[in-house]
Amino acid sequence: MEIVPAPTRDAAVALTAKLIESRLRDKPNLVLGLATGRTMEEVYARLVASGVSFARCTTFNLDEYVGLPPEDPNSYAAYMRHHLFDHVDIDPARINLPDGMADDLSVAAADYERRIAGAGGIDLQLLGIGEAGHIGFNEPLSALRSRTRDKILTPVTRAQNAGMFGGDPDAVPKRALTMGVETILESRELVLLASGRAKASVVAKAVEGPLTARISASAIQLHTHCKVILDDEAASDL
Ligand code: GLP
Repeated sequence: MEIVPAPTRDAAVALTAKLIESRLRDKPNLVLGLATGRTMEEVYARLVASGVSFARCTTFNLDEYVGLPPEDPNSYAAYMRHHLFDHVDIDPARINLPDGMADDLSVAAADYERRIAGAGGIDLQLLGIGEAGHIGFNEPLSALRSRTRDKILTPVTRAQNAGMFGGDPDAVPKRALTMGVETILESRELVLLASGRAKASVVAKAVEGPLTARISASAIQLHTHCKVILDDEAASDL
């Protein structure tokens, strides 16, 4: 694991976007794992501005809320269209998100795993980190061997994400379908981006603390090709 410090949020975002852009230029048919959250919005804005082609790229998002259809403005499908897909030349048939509307979530989860395997696995997985230490929606005590499945969201996560739901944590769905920790670790390369003081303590636990299912992001310590890009505030507890 390589820690990449950046002096400002903008610099951290720029480094992350450049890394993705350069992987896409080297391998136009990249299988790219995508993340959501406020931190990623500027990464996607920079990728759009770069003009890099997504025409042959296949994407897999980490997670999706259960019970929100893709048309719902708070779904991650809508987030991705708004911030990236509507502005680049990606082939809609190559876009993948977990199906949080499926009648049987375990069937949808197994299908998602099959789709990832069918694409040859993920080349580069982009990650954020939640204040509860999650990657994707792998909440505390997620098994380090977990695969794609539905998870109950913790109050910390629902409060953190309430901003997108009119500030009301009760409006945030209670469950999500998420890639598992092991699914994420199987990606050939990981890049985790964190910014801001609010993430400093959990970032320190994830990268310097013990490997623990209480902080699922600590599992990235096991990965041999992983960059953690941090602005000065997110790195302030290291
Ligand atoms: C959500 C996503 C996570 C993401 C987190 C960080 O919980 N499921 O994948 O890491 O948001 O969000 P933010 O960037 O808004 O702090």
